[in-house]
Amino acid sequence: MLNEKIETILVAQVEKEAYSSMLYLAMASWAEVNGLEGISKWLYAQSDEERMHMLKFVAYINERGGKAVIPALRQPPVDYGTVKDAFKEVLKHENFITQSINEIVYACAEVKDFTTQNFVQWFVNEQIEEERNVRNILDKLNLLGDGGMYLFDRDIMSMRAAAAAADAGGAGA
Ligand code: FEO
Repeated sequence: MLNEKIETILVAQVEKEAYSSMLYLAMASWAEVNGLEGISKWLYAQSDEERMHMLKFVAYINERGGKAVIPALRQPPVDYGTVKDAFKEVLKHENFITQSINEIVYACAEVKDFTTQNFVQWFVNEQIEEERNVRNILDKLNLLGDGGMYLFDRDIMSMRAAAAAADAGGAGA
């Protein structure tokens, strides 16, 4: 049976993982409508992963005799500025989640719930990987610099121009 305090903190984590999924879904959609296909695919996949994290907490709470509560939806922002801004936001959010996971580990130690502590260890490792992935992306974006982003932007524009020319050619044929 889950300790009441542990159940409360785990239910709160369900909400945080659900929001992570919503946040990355919103970012994926933002990237998609801005023509950033690769970035949007990365974010859609990340959103799916966060849903899987949420489900892990739901399953664990219920399995241990608790009651998982499915939270209401909270709307994430619609715009994220630049690509770098967006990934800075991802890193900030992941740091927040890491802190939250660490608090669960601490709470488990306080009440000597080593079963839950063992379950949460998977998330401790997952957070190391997630933070590293996002830092790698930010390193690459920093290497690209503003000039690189300009070229990327021009590339997108020329793709648009090519598509428009193809459309015009098709209409005239
Ligand atoms: Fe489920 Fe990215 O933390």
